[in-house]
Amino acid sequence: MNIVIVGAQWGDEGKGKVVDLYSAKADYIVRYQGGNNAGHTLVVNGKKTVLHLIPSGILHAGKTCLIANGVVFDPDVFFQEITSLENAGALNGAAGHERVRVSERAHVILPYHRTLDRLREEHASKDGGKKIGTTVRGIGPAYEDKVARRGAQVVDLIRPELLREKIKRAIEEKNVLLEHHFKTSERINFDEVYSAALKIGERLKPYIADVRGILTGALQQKRPILFEGAQGTLLDVDHGTYPFVTSSNTVAGGAITGSGVGLNTPTRVIGITKAYTTRVGTGPFPTEIETTEKETAEKIRKIGAEFGATTGRPRRVGWLDLVALKYAVEVNGVSGLALMKADVLQDFDHIKICTAYRLGTQTLYDLPSSGHDLDRVEPAYEVLPGWPSYDTKGITSVGQLPEELQGFIKFIEDFLKVPVILLSTGPGREETLLLGDPFGK
Ligand code: IMP
Repeated sequence: MNIVIVGAQWGDEGKGKVVDLYSAKADYIVRYQGGNNAGHTLVVNGKKTVLHLIPSGILHAGKTCLIANGVVFDPDVFFQEITSLENAGALNGAAGHERVRVSERAHVILPYHRTLDRLREEHASKDGGKKIGTTVRGIGPAYEDKVARRGAQVVDLIRPELLREKIKRAIEEKNVLLEHHFKTSERINFDEVYSAALKIGERLKPYIADVRGILTGALQQKRPILFEGAQGTLLDVDHGTYPFVTSSNTVAGGAITGSGVGLNTPTRVIGITKAYTTRVGTGPFPTEIETTEKETAEKIRKIGAEFGATTGRPRRVGWLDLVALKYAVEVNGVSGLALMKADVLQDFDHIKICTAYRLGTQTLYDLPSSGHDLDRVEPAYEVLPGWPSYDTKGITSVGQLPEELQGFIKFIEDFLKVPVILLSTGPGREETLLLGDPFGK
């Protein structure tokens, strides 16, 4: 059995912890979309590791971590992560390329992608405040180049002549944009970008591989694979709250196109959700309580340490939204849920859960496709009793769970018709209640 881990909300659900846990049972851990806009936090034996690009299975010795074709790959960030993992002894003496391989077909984030991301955001704010609130890591511009068929792929980094042509053409175009559209004096220097890219190519050589081929071999041998999604369903470029989304397919289907495996692969999809909701960046967020229940929002943010792992930005906070979650279950084909950070809610007398939206006189049970409508909906809540007199942090058995928390879980399962197979009660690997085995029959 293979599994796909997807964010069922707007990202930051705690996928890193779940991937780290489940990696114990997988042979291959694969990132298939996004790039270093992700921030996956792992806490093992009290030690925190934050990964942006390298799959979160890296802390398990002997597992192969793959960066597949659907990822946009920033080589500078990649080598920073390899070096810091090596320095921390996390690779157990193995050479980086023995543990991590990068697809020849992944597209490369070059310095001008970051420049364009920043200028677009600055420009958009001047233009009436419609900025996306990106991570400014160059993700969108790199995917733009890929889709426009002018991107450089990882394999080009070791083909100097091809690379020269590709980068030259791209830079000429970017400089026109810089001068005439963004009206800035900044320019991209071809020689600098090209010579740095060649050096990177040399260093990257041992890591470059036919990742699709490796995965096909693994499937033939029935070796378990874990596909690690980044960001979340509602940030998907096709199915999310467009245009306030990232530029890739964050849904489970992205694992297929983003890694080149076939549809006949037996796979289970595990959706990761927090017991409440957060969002970074702009865009609709129906259950947001930043202004309506300011103190509660601040309390959740503080207890839950809701600050971006990539940018440090405070995350917007709201109650759990089952309308959005039901949508995520459908779009991804989720068969089991991991419920994260339930311990963060333990100090509250009452917990709210959104079960429908109101739009004018209408009641909606499904997520509206139009961002304009989603911006205007009001959440309809069920109020459940909290469990303020219990300390649920670190609980690892069902018998220890307060009745109210069990009721909260049952409410979610009954509404979504999907079992909660993992309950996280703290950031540590061991602070987890395993209620089902996603790799099992
Ligand atoms: P980009 O992916 O940097 O282009 O950002 C687009 C949107 O996705 C912004 O709202 C970001 O805040 C959001 N985003 C990107 N990566 C993550 C993530 O890993 N967690 C949460 N939000 C993210």
